[in-house]
Amino acid sequence: MTKRILVYRSINEDQLARLERDFHVDYLPEVASAEDPAFLDALANAHGLVGASLPITPALLDRAPHLEAIASISVGYDNYPVDELTRRGILLCNTPDVLTETTADTGFLLIMCAARRAIELAGMVQRGEWRESIGKELFGTDVHGKTLGMVGFGRIGAAIARRGALGFGMRVLYSNASPKPELEAELGARHRELDELLTEADIVCVTVPLNADTHHLIGAREFALMKPSAIFVNVARGKVVDETALIEALRAGKPHAAGLDVFEREPLPETSPLPHMPNVVALPHIGSATHETRTAMADRAVANILAALNGERPPSPVNELELKSS
Ligand code: DGY
Repeated sequence: MTKRILVYRSINEDQLARLERDFHVDYLPEVASAEDPAFLDALANAHGLVGASLPITPALLDRAPHLEAIASISVGYDNYPVDELTRRGILLCNTPDVLTETTADTGFLLIMCAARRAIELAGMVQRGEWRESIGKELFGTDVHGKTLGMVGFGRIGAAIARRGALGFGMRVLYSNASPKPELEAELGARHRELDELLTEADIVCVTVPLNADTHHLIGAREFALMKPSAIFVNVARGKVVDETALIEALRAGKPHAAGLDVFEREPLPETSPLPHMPNVVALPHIGSATHETRTAMADRAVANILAALNGERPPSPVNELELKSS
């Protein structure tokens, strides 16, 4: 019997053809919700899943009795119940490395836009309101030479810090579960406990993965520790930050400004005040969203699912070791 793969995110023709060589593919790139009847029908017969953004719950797994492997088109895997997948013998794969530099570019874009008020001032020009040289009430703040505090110092955090240290002459501090001596040597980065980092940094940039330990890692207490002039940037996951506390902190002017690519609810609800706050730059979760990188991520996901369903070792397994020991 030919195994079936359900693809629920857009991939290109070449990627689709690679999957179709050995497998039957149910291609549903427009699925917006796990309630979609076509999605549920295909799920019932799927041996493999390729997609992103849809939370895959244990209840959904109950409807997928043949499922062997999932290849997420993302590096983050907070949309998947990893322990539950392992318990059911289902392999989960992700797409590390290929999106590191693009997501770091997004991080730096947010740092620059928030510090230099680029979106706010571009809006002024667009509305035809630029009638004279701007006064100091619209000046931004320098990025070069400042202290960059990285909350999380994995691949993406390190790539942002590299841009700061080597391109902008920034001093780099980091808080991370484990020390990173090689990055300390390369970038002159210094380890700090989170509270110390928050009090010392001019720019605080969050890149930790979302898990039980990092849920609401940054809240009212943490914002209170920051400098009044601090710029706060989040390219990790929205739920790492207590968004209600962030809104209150921004209204109170501390942090001074924020650059956000991720939110507690995505798409951001219409009622959210964040996009309307002049000191906030809000992007629609575009960390990895370039043609080159999204193609590379889908390529990796295709390679992952093909290997997994053919009984080979996939390039980027998440729970391989846990599966072996379970
Ligand atoms: C990821 O890959 O985890 C990015 O946030 C895109 O979803």
